Amino acid sequence: MNKIPLILDVDTGVDDAIAILYALSCPELELLGICTVAGNQTLDKTTRNTLSVLEYLGRTDVPVAMGSSGPLMRPLHTAPQVHGENGLGNVQLPEPAKKPLEEDAVSSMRRWIEQSPRPVTIAAVGPLTNIALLLKSYPHLKSKIEKIAIMGGGAFRGNASPVAEFNIYVDPEAAHMVFKAGVPMVMCGLDVTMQAYATQEDIDAFAALGNKAGRFCADIFRFYYDFHMSGVRGKLPGCAVHDAVTVMTLTHPELFKGEDAYVEVDLDGQYTLGCTAADFRDRGRIAEKNAHVIMEIDREAFIRLLLKAAASYS
Ligand code: BDR
Ligand code: CA
Repeated sequence: MNKIPLILDVDTGVDDAIAILYALSCPELELLGICTVAGNQTLDKTTRNTLSVLEYLGRTDVPVAMGSSGPLMRPLHTAPQVHGENGLGNVQLPEPAKKPLEEDAVSSMRRWIEQSPRPVTIAAVGPLTNIALLLKSYPHLKSKIEKIAIMGGGAFRGNASPVAEFNIYVDPEAAHMVFKAGVPMVMCGLDVTMQAYATQEDIDAFAALGNKAGRFCADIFRFYYDFHMSGVRGKLPGCAVHDAVTVMTLTHPELFKGEDAYVEVDLDGQYTLGCTAADFRDRGRIAEKNAHVIMEIDREAFIRLLLKAAASYS
């Protein structure tokens, strides 16, 4: 099997941690490295969390590069109400022994992409700041990128605002640049990720695995689940495991349904800043469709695969 050479870009984050755990366990993926960005928490915390999760799971072989400490043009908004003050649902992991690379995220991505014999896939599940800087600084790399799969946006809903999703809302200019870059895009927005929820029963099933990874998932879900149950962002039967969806579209595309669209990011709307306006119509702009928008998931299979991933750690 030809593995998919993959770069993960994260703002770790509860659901980012689950996405990392899943990606590490997948035989379909060759994880070249992980880049961090500010989003759910400040860059120092998202980087620490990423290193801690890797160390906890026994995967210090995966290099971590630090990226942008804030959006391109705006002040940073974080989400402690969703992910806790430490970004991991306030679960304390030991201080990681390993440090991030000295090289920054953009230079590391450049090196990983240039050194890869095959086009690289990027899964970006935080604000798109690092990715925008990569494409702007090194446009010649675009032909060596297979696709950019993001957790971000929503054709028909928002969470940071009525119409904008958090990752896009935090750095709309970066998202705008990435959607315009001419690289194939897969948008896993709230349309699909809100269907990818974990119920209390699912969380109990992680705990019942009885291993370190299962307990870790159940522990970090606690705070995050309570936030979702508070109803602040509407009613769901569980907590949305957004970021793992993006990675799973790469390993198990058969579990998803989507449609091509022309997506524009709103940069100056009074009420719609960061909205991903998705035009699915086959009129006028058909040639310009710039993203495959994922709309449906087989939720039960998704949870089964996450449980299998957690069970695979000793
Ligand atoms: C996205 O925002 C973050 O809170 C999550 O990690 C996810 O990437 C959901 O809107
Ligand atoms: Ca995230």
